[in-house]
Amino acid sequence: MAESRNFSNGSIMAFIFFFAAFLASGSSTAQVPFLMWSTKSLPSLTSPPAGHITSMEELAAYLTPVFGSGSNTVLLFLQDKLSKDDFTLFGGVFGNKQESAFRNLEAALQSSSSSVSFPALEWTGESAIPTLLQQKLGASPLLVDPDTLSHLSLNTSTSNLLIINLPYCSDSLKSCKEVLSNNDEIIGKVLSSLKAKDVSYTAAYTGLQPSQAISKSSLLNQQVGRTLLQAPAADVKAPIIFSNTTGFPCIMLWAQNLSISPPGSTDFIDLAQENATVIGSMCNSTNSELVLTYVNYILRFAMSQRFYPVSARNWFTLDSVQVQVRSSGQTASFVGSHGIYAPAEYSFHCQSVSSFRDTLLVPANQNATQWKLNFVDFQIQGFSLANGTNFSYASDCASFFTAGIWMGLVTSLLMLLIFVYGLHMIMQLNTMDRFDDPKGPTISVPQSD
Ligand SMILES: *[C@@H]1O[C@H](CO)[C@@H](O)[C@H](O)[C@H]1NC(C)=O
Ligand SMILES: *[C@@H]1O[C@H](CO)[C@@H](O)[C@H](O)[C@H]1NC(C)=O
Ligand SMILES: *[C@@H]1O[C@H](CO)[C@@H](O)[C@H](O)[C@H]1NC(C)=O
Ligand SMILES: *[C@@H]1O[C@H](CO)[C@@H](O)[C@H](O)[C@H]1NC(C)=O
Ligand SMILES: *[C@@H]1O[C@H](CO)[C@@H](O)[C@H](O)[C@H]1NC(C)=O
Ligand SMILES: *[C@@H]1O[C@H](CO)[C@@H](O)[C@H](O)[C@H]1NC(C)=O
Ligand SMILES: *[C@@H]1O[C@H](CO)[C@@H](O)[C@H](O)[C@H]1NC(C)=O
Ligand SMILES: *[C@@H]1O[C@H](CO)[C@@H](O)[C@H](O)[C@H]1NC(C)=O
Repeated sequence: MAESRNFSNGSIMAFIFFFAAFLASGSSTAQVPFLMWSTKSLPSLTSPPAGHITSMEELAAYLTPVFGSGSNTVLLFLQDKLSKDDFTLFGGVFGNKQESAFRNLEAALQSSSSSVSFPALEWTGESAIPTLLQQKLGASPLLVDPDTLSHLSLNTSTSNLLIINLPYCSDSLKSCKEVLSNNDEIIGKVLSSLKAKDVSYTAAYTGLQPSQAISKSSLLNQQVGRTLLQAPAADVKAPIIFSNTTGFPCIMLWAQNLSISPPGSTDFIDLAQENATVIGSMCNSTNSELVLTYVNYILRFAMSQRFYPVSARNWFTLDSVQVQVRSSGQTASFVGSHGIYAPAEYSFHCQSVSSFRDTLLVPANQNATQWKLNFVDFQIQGFSLANGTNFSYASDCASFFTAGIWMGLVTSLLMLLIFVYGLHMIMQLNTMDRFDDPKGPTISVPQSD
């Protein structure tokens, strides 16, 4: 018993540490915390390794001996949502108990005969935990109102499963902490009314669903956070897709901006803001051409793929980009094949493809030098779209060893070399094997002719 008492004493603090570890590990499966305490003794739990997610089967195996014999009264505090983050956020960290939203819960954990905690219980659905308890107890659940519990007469010669629903702060205007404190008051009230009836019980506190306390509270408190979080979702455009005659997607293009600047103009026109048709595009196994017709301009992207024996694979290149003014028919062509290429199974991506800042688009004729093209966050794929509307793995134009990285690397290597040389020299130094002894005879150097 002493062992379990020790556990309960620091349990909330232990939680905070567990939860911090979980936050860092960032597991992807949904989980809810599950706390259980009892007036009788619960089997002790071998402390799970940090980051372990308890499965429903493990919980079931743990509960079997707990409710194996006799009649049990189980109180299940089922909060609409709950996550370990709630304890971290509202648990009154650094021993500041006044701040905690879980004071009655902490007191109950400490004063009960024993308690166990599953910081991360695999979440498999809203009804999973009530169903499991129902099976283990062989009693049908009874939804109780905390206010009328004192009038409820319990037949303790049979098993009882009492469920107390608790709200969460998702859509109420009250702050999360206030809601959780209210819930904590309810827990305290229910427990003391059972104590008054002298009923021995086992209680559990968990969530119907996981909550994301951190993101939610930042949403509630910070308008900036909200706009920042919402902006990208609203902004994401669908890629432009051209499908061949049999309906298989074969060319995809996505760009944040497709900005062009005609001769004599300093302003850029962002064609990505406009709708385009893909009429006139074509693709076969070796060539694809995407023709984007806008209100005033036509953009053409011509790609080809072929086998390169040296690398023993197919590569595709963006051979040309052509912009045409619809009213005058004036065209400007740029060659892209020097810099825009990728293995044929991949897509090509580049943060910036421009005709003036880098050499990815080289003007193909004299007229084209007057034009400026600037494509931001540009991604294209003209081959191997295996019946999907997702880009394949992107080969990026930003090579890892940029000039800056090279310079840094070379400088560091030089410094390291000098350091190693110096160290080597220092290790070569020997202490003298003979010293001048002032008491003894002076070292005499025989001088003889
Ligand atoms: C409690 O339940 C048992 C078993 O169902 C029954 O025999 C007993 O009469 C009940 N007691 C009361 C006070 O209802
Ligand atoms: C369209 O693309 C699919 C898949 O790449 C290919 O199997 C089919 O032959 C193509 N149809 C035509 C008419 O090119
Ligand atoms: C790129 O597009 C965004 C909106 O999609 C716009 O706000 C921005 O000004 C554009 N940049 C250029 C250089 O056109
Ligand atoms: C582009 O098309 C969408 C849907 O077809 C339409 O809602 C939108 O207004 C169009 N945008 C422009 C600039 O024409
Ligand atoms: C693909 O299209 C190009 C351009 O229209 C053409 O030259 C080439 O022969 C075609 N290739 C195949 C395999 O059909
Ligand atoms: C270049 O521009 C001149 C005059 O604007 C035009 O006559 C000529 O056809 C253009 N050449 C090309 C290749 O578009
Ligand atoms: C292409 O995708 C559709 C739906 O995604 C699917 O029904 C169809 O079987 C797929 N065809 C091939 C050849 O993979
Ligand atoms: C495309 O990607 C989305 C999200 O990554 C995924 O849900 C979808 O199944 C993918 N579609 C295909 C056809 O692979």
